[in-house]
Amino acid sequence: MLQGRRILLIISGGIAAYKSLELIRRLRDQGAAVRCVMTEAARQFITPLSVASLSEDKVYGDLWSLTDESEMGHIRLSREADLLVVAPATADLIARMAAGIANDLAATTLLASDKPVLIAPAMNAMMWAHPATQANLATLASRGIGRIGPAAGDLACGEIGFGRMSEPAEIVAEIARFLAKDQRLSGRRALVTSGPTREPIDPVRYISNHSSGKQGHAIAAALAALGAETVLISGPTSEPTPVGVKLIAVETAAEMLMASEGVLPVDVAVMAAAVSDWRIASASTQKLKKNGKGPPNLRLVENPDILASIAARGNDRPVLVIGFAAETETRAATIGRRWSLALPRRPRTSSPMPAPSASARAVIGSLRTTCRPAPAPSAGSATRCIW
Ligand SMILES: Cc1cc2nc3c(=O)[nH]c(=O)nc-3n(C[C@H](O)[C@H](O)[C@H](O)COP(=O)(O)O)c2cc1C
Repeated sequence: MLQGRRILLIISGGIAAYKSLELIRRLRDQGAAVRCVMTEAARQFITPLSVASLSEDKVYGDLWSLTDESEMGHIRLSREADLLVVAPATADLIARMAAGIANDLAATTLLASDKPVLIAPAMNAMMWAHPATQANLATLASRGIGRIGPAAGDLACGEIGFGRMSEPAEIVAEIARFLAKDQRLSGRRALVTSGPTREPIDPVRYISNHSSGKQGHAIAAALAALGAETVLISGPTSEPTPVGVKLIAVETAAEMLMASEGVLPVDVAVMAAAVSDWRIASASTQKLKKNGKGPPNLRLVENPDILASIAARGNDRPVLVIGFAAETETRAATIGRRWSLALPRRPRTSSPMPAPSASARAVIGSLRTTCRPAPAPSAGSATRCIW
């Protein structure tokens, strides 16, 4: 599955470092070459000897080693890899990555890397939930750094909660998905919208819907796995950002439209977000209070139609626009959403749409041969339905 692929595994100093030994073994079993960098703290948890034995390669760790720098060097470490995987990724290394700090070999290699990066965080639940860690993770997600896990459960520190590193088998599966040989969308740009929007009523209340974001996120993951440079614009969800996808987090429909227009031009746009049709005409800046005169009169106004706006663009209209609609009257109601493929059509503006470029035609070609519009895909089957 990973024959000939080269993984640079960066092991930082968390209690889950022991799992990285199994990760190395599983990656090697799949045919990958694994080269390892260990932080100083990682060496407190597992020995470089074990790591070297399992990876059958030298283990790197000293930024100042004359031998290592002349033999390999922090720049070559990443240049000679297909993918950088940080497992476990400590709160500390995540913070250094987010801040662009390069004070050891692991952080310097990550900063100097031109390769995709995948992190598997592992830490105490309070460290995970800390606003500093969450802000750092959001920064990394916005830069396209992929994340696997963490899972919830018993933690090594004796507490229970989020922070367990994903199991090595799951990490290998995610790496394999990411490095899948089918890169037919390489060189293409894709935009995917996902999740609900939130339209404020006042500073503490909003109108929203039940969208989980599962479908949009799965589609973004599929596009990225096929090599497309993928931007995911999502309303609030608890779905992790898929590997290799750049996330732009938004709340309202207006923000989603502005962000979507901001990433154009793209070759393909998949609008899977559940955008609120209406918003409050003028949201209150203060919390609305009961005043004994009955409920407030909330006037709704229509939100912009993001799908229609993107489909009606002129020169920078994506050559392929796919839209989703939630249904309650039809059979799709049992699942909730259906999708339709809108192959290039004339925009609603008077200006004629330019003929699709050769590269855009290639995207359509590859999608046409693989797209099987299904009557009602479930969130989990999004990948299969579309690709
Ligand atoms: C016993 C022990 C267990 C630790 N486990 C974790 C952990 O699971 N996750 C984490 O982020 N930090 C953990 N730490 C703290 C890190 O080791 C510490 O932040 C260190 O500076 C990380 O260095 P590094 O990011 O360069 O590897 C632990 C510390 C100790 C002493």
